[in-house]
Amino acid sequence: MNIKNIFWRILFAGVLGTSFAGTFSWGQPKAGEEVNLIMEEMTALDQAFKTIIDGVVLGDMERIKPAMMGVYEARERIERALKAGQKVILPKNQGQIREFIRLDDQFHSDLEDLTRAAETGQRKVVKNYAHRLLDSCVVCHEKFRR
Ligand code: HEC
Repeated sequence: MNIKNIFWRILFAGVLGTSFAGTFSWGQPKAGEEVNLIMEEMTALDQAFKTIIDGVVLGDMERIKPAMMGVYEARERIERALKAGQKVILPKNQGQIREFIRLDDQFHSDLEDLTRAAETGQRKVVKNYAHRLLDSCVVCHEKFRR
């Protein structure tokens, strides 16, 4: 085997190796690996919350539930990541991840209640939950957002 042949073999193995590694790790980080899914969730949340405010202000409850879908999906990705043992990175107070999860759980439970109230057209209940959620945004950001 000449030098050129060996060179190509090594190069080929290398390219194949990295592309396989890429295929397996793509969107499927291994346990212990770091992922930042919070920003994804926050982008969805930010949009959804604006729709909630519009819904309350305009008295249009029907637009609320459809706006929640992106949030549920982002939230599921975070839950799957945590279950798979992946590390969700917080910009601040990483040591208090349990407190973060507690706040996040409470937040999503309120969000579900709000969505149900919207489905049954209870504008006043939705308005109260919107206030409560806004407070929760601020509480969590003060603690965990840089
Ligand atoms: C349980 C905690 C928690 C709650 C509740 C929460 N956030 Fe966040 N949010 C975060 C964290 C942590 C970050 C920073 C993520 C990062 O930098 O990686 C963030 C970032 C953001 C950002 C991006 C800002 C930037 O740095 O560019 C927006 C927008 C946002 N949140 C909106 C909201 C809104 C609106 C609500 C309430 C309806 C809310 N968040 C509720 C934890 C939370």
